[in-house]
Amino acid sequence: MGVFSSGGVGIDLGSANVTICLENEGVVLREPSYVLAMREDDTDVLGVGRDARQMLGRTPKDVVLLSPVMDGAVADVQLATLLLKLLAEKALGKRRALEKNRLVVSISTSATRVEHAAAEETVRGAGAKRAALIRGSAAAALGAGLSIDEPKGMMVVLIGGSTTEVAVLSMSGVVAARTMRTGSLAMDEAIMRYVRREKGLIIGQRTAEDLKLDLGTALEIPMDKLESASLRGRDARTGRPGVAEINALDIQRAILPTLDELLESIREVFENTPAELAEDILKNGVRLSGGGALLEGLRERLAALLGVPVAVGENPQDEVALGACIAASDDKIYQKLAATGCLIEI
Ligand SMILES: Nc1ncnc2c1ncn2[C@@H]1O[C@H](COP(=O)(O)OP(=O)(O)OP(=O)(O)O)[C@@H](O)[C@H]1O
Ligand SMILES: [Mg+2]
Repeated sequence: MGVFSSGGVGIDLGSANVTICLENEGVVLREPSYVLAMREDDTDVLGVGRDARQMLGRTPKDVVLLSPVMDGAVADVQLATLLLKLLAEKALGKRRALEKNRLVVSISTSATRVEHAAAEETVRGAGAKRAALIRGSAAAALGAGLSIDEPKGMMVVLIGGSTTEVAVLSMSGVVAARTMRTGSLAMDEAIMRYVRREKGLIIGQRTAEDLKLDLGTALEIPMDKLESASLRGRDARTGRPGVAEINALDIQRAILPTLDELLESIREVFENTPAELAEDILKNGVRLSGGGALLEGLRERLAALLGVPVAVGENPQDEVALGACIAASDDKIYQKLAATGCLIEI
């Protein structure tokens, strides 16, 4: 791609991460959706993304870490604009600024008018000239390599940081969808609560997330494989540094209620699918996507619960951005999605 040519850019502006995918290059950036700002004036921004998180606790200034994208939607347009602009510049380089490319940004599948408008303002504010919004589940399906224009129902379950979307797609459109305000982040919070309650230790969200990534599983844990790890935190009683032993069974106990609730709501949507589409889904199975899909054993648990095959790709966390990028790069797909309202030009 030359300096003056332009290409498609797909962005997943998520509650946990911003993921950016470029035409011909694939996913080039994923950074946490954070903005670090001065506490008394949150328009005074010190850093975004990974920098923001790294600077926290390392700067003498009175700062606050903010999440401008919450529950799968833009909560603070001004800060989200800055986050999008700076990370896009990082991914694209200043020469290939956002305005030269066709940009497609994902929104929640059942985004309200207000959420829609906030996303639009953010994308415009970040400097995009040719831009569109795409419904998350359609982007995930595209990014997963499914041919979504066929006249058959396919179900996508998209588990992000703070949202879970269940959607049935057919002929490049959304036939049925439900967005639930729960996701993988709720498991981190459950781990924090569990560790405090059962181990008397206070840990941060990042530590809890690390525990989930390292030890979290939805599968049965063989007792002879139960290794303990030392966990550092702050003693809940004294406030002093403390240590506790923790193992995979602890993490499982911590996340189980959240996991069960998540699975149960997916089953509910599945059971309310119109009969003619349910038949297709029984035949073709369900596609699991989003970062939350990476939890060990989740695919198996969901398959057992629904009684249908469930597939998950190598990089489910990339799929929304990848699908958005495909829509941005392929005119035919772009037009088809626009015709069904899955893609909204802004
Ligand atoms: N190996 C893993 N096991 C379990 N969870 C994981 C794993 N890898 C990533 N995750 C979780 O995936 C979540 C992020 O997923 P993703 O990037 O799809 O969310 P998002 O798009 O930012 O959020 P949302 O769509 O809800 O706005 C995080 O909560 C992270 O902890
Ligand atoms: Mg997402």
